[in-house]
Amino acid sequence: MTCSVGVIGFGRMAQAIISPLLKSGKLKSDQIIGVVGRRESIASISERFPSELCICTPDSSEAIKAWNAPVKILSIKPQQLDLVSKEANQCIKPESSNSLLISLIAGVKLQRLKAIFSESFCVRVVPNAPVFVGSGLTGISWGDSFPIDKVSLVKDIFEPISELIDLPEAQLDAFLALTSSGPAYVALIVEGLADGAVAAGLPRELALELAHKTLSGTASLLNKKKLHPAQLKDMVASPAGTTISALRHLEKSGLRSALIEAVVLAAERSKELS
Ligand SMILES: NC(=O)c1ccc[n+]([C@@H]2O[C@H](COP(=O)([O-])OP(=O)(O)OC[C@H]3O[C@@H](n4cnc5c(N)ncnc54)[C@H](OP(=O)(O)O)[C@@H]3O)[C@@H](O)[C@H]2O)c1
Repeated sequence: MTCSVGVIGFGRMAQAIISPLLKSGKLKSDQIIGVVGRRESIASISERFPSELCICTPDSSEAIKAWNAPVKILSIKPQQLDLVSKEANQCIKPESSNSLLISLIAGVKLQRLKAIFSESFCVRVVPNAPVFVGSGLTGISWGDSFPIDKVSLVKDIFEPISELIDLPEAQLDAFLALTSSGPAYVALIVEGLADGAVAAGLPRELALELAHKTLSGTASLLNKKKLHPAQLKDMVASPAGTTISALRHLEKSGLRSALIEAVVLAAERSKELS
């Protein structure tokens, strides 16, 4: 990538995206201008990145450069969008038309983005927390009329940290409800399993470690052997054995239904927020 990249909102997610691009040499530090909301944030971010990478606040002249970069990554919280769009209005120059705006903001539709950033080609991306360790999933909605020559640029940015899935925008809420909120559901399950093992007599630290490993090993087995979850369940549950006793309890307690409702509720909430 040779052009400059303005990152508006240089928080956790933006840093997870930019770091591997710097490490791999796909981007150089002096190509990036990161904008944060508060001056206090600058020092701690600067400690973690090379000094050539510019971190600034919205009221600086560097922020104007970020807004007029050929590639802009918008990684602020949804509730910050009204303020940030006012800042953008004051900064964006007419000559920066045909630039690319990549929005990570959960729930903000392409139609709204295009109305605010009419100078740019807008694309929505929905990454999930495992991008922090390079094992994420990123849903991408290109919308209509996204120029084909800019597709690979977007893919180059997200591929180092995640698998990419193209989706119609109408499916992004469901995607987010499963993949972005999913790590929280899974974390709850791991914690519950560890608590169970502690109740059954294992030390806490060991119980947590075993719960993690059971989860990652199971995911790997499902994935590598291309098993349907029902096949794996039936493989493990022998007649009159321990697993089927436990499964009977989980079904009686409504675990499956609780998970279904959780994903549906998260998708509905995502729709509501947009
Ligand atoms: N984290 C996740 O797992 C995840 C997953 C999927 C999608 N996302 C989406 O990614 C986006 C960013 O999330 P995050 O977790 O990275 O949030 P974050 O760490 O809170 O980052 C938000 C960034 O925006 C900056 N900011 C605030 N006001 C601003 C302004 N007026 N102008 C420019 N920058 C401003 C903040 O600076 P200060 O800190 O100085 O205020 C901070 O650097 C969100 O829309 C979120 O929905 C996150």
